[in-house]
Amino acid sequence: MKATATAHTNIALIKYWGKRNESLILPTNSSLSLTLDGFRTTTTVDFRDELSQDTFTLNDEIISGEQYNRVTAFLDLIRRSAGKNNLYAAVQSINEVPTAAGFASSASGFAALAAAGSKSIGLQVTDQELSRLTRQGSGSACRSIYGGFAEWKMGEQADGSDSFAVPVAPTEHWDIRVAAVILSDTMKKVSSREGMKRTVETSPFYSGWIDSIPSDMEQMKKGIANRDFEKVGKIAEANCLKMHATTLGANPPFTYWLDTTLAVMQTVRSMRDKGIAAYFTIDAGPNVKVLYLPEDEKNVEKTLRETPGVTDVILSKSGQGVTYY
Ligand code: ADP
Ligand code: DP6
Ligand code: CO
Repeated sequence: MKATATAHTNIALIKYWGKRNESLILPTNSSLSLTLDGFRTTTTVDFRDELSQDTFTLNDEIISGEQYNRVTAFLDLIRRSAGKNNLYAAVQSINEVPTAAGFASSASGFAALAAAGSKSIGLQVTDQELSRLTRQGSGSACRSIYGGFAEWKMGEQADGSDSFAVPVAPTEHWDIRVAAVILSDTMKKVSSREGMKRTVETSPFYSGWIDSIPSDMEQMKKGIANRDFEKVGKIAEANCLKMHATTLGANPPFTYWLDTTLAVMQTVRSMRDKGIAAYFTIDAGPNVKVLYLPEDEKNVEKTLRETPGVTDVILSKSGQGVTYY
């Protein structure tokens, strides 16, 4: 049966940055994100008897190589769960988000693939089971099953049975906004996967990162519950800076930042000096996401657009979780 699902990307306010088990995608720390309505993936999966291998098109282009292998490896998990190891699928996906450029396309991409794939093969899954499955495609994707704020609990079990995302607060809880500040949409040189692996293995700053997570997580959840924007913004910004600091200590060292990334960070700081509540966070790429409140939208957008090097600003609200057609 053919099935179609849509999922949105999410922006981590407490970052996932490191794996304790690479094949199962088990993280070294819990993370927390906001699902964004501005960026999404729509994927159709058709498991059919007459196919002798999987096919994958992304934005109407036939995909082979690493991106194809990641999709077929994920379909293998779905096949195994359904006990249908010889059934292949045609996968068609549309990314309304730049691919592999630090906009979390792997999050919306694998959440949509997991949802459409399980439905197409006839698996009945709860949100929790879907999140656990999705995690094995791309870690950050397990949070995109839910709308609003979601926490990926790292879990303790070696088999990953307790590592999945749970909802923290739905979209309706709080109208918090995110401006995605676009500086570059070219593919990144160091994928999230490779970047975090190198950092875990070689950065002397990594243990400091891990030590700081429990307190950030606790404070962040309080801030969300109380709709305390300053608290949420401050923790998100500091958590992002700590994550990016670990990459400078890696061997070989690397950074996702461009000079324009620093310029946008400075713009956000000077907005705050003028009394506008705005805070930044940055995933594995040069582009900056700015958190703000609805009443400041015009001001924030204008100020960001005036920053040299900014090619576009895309405004997002809190988005919904996975939906089926
Ligand atoms: P990003 O910042 O975009 O998440 P990553 O390096 O984490 O960058 O992941 C990008 C990879 O995610 C792509 O190279 C591809 O393998 C996978 N991906 C992106 N979009 C899709 C999609 N719609 N369907 C399946 N896989 C996808
Ligand atoms: C910096 O989920 O893309 O965006 O699990 O290897 O697919 P894989 O990595 P991915 O890593 C995201 C890293 C991050 C932080 C975050 O989203 O929590
Ligand atoms: Co990603």
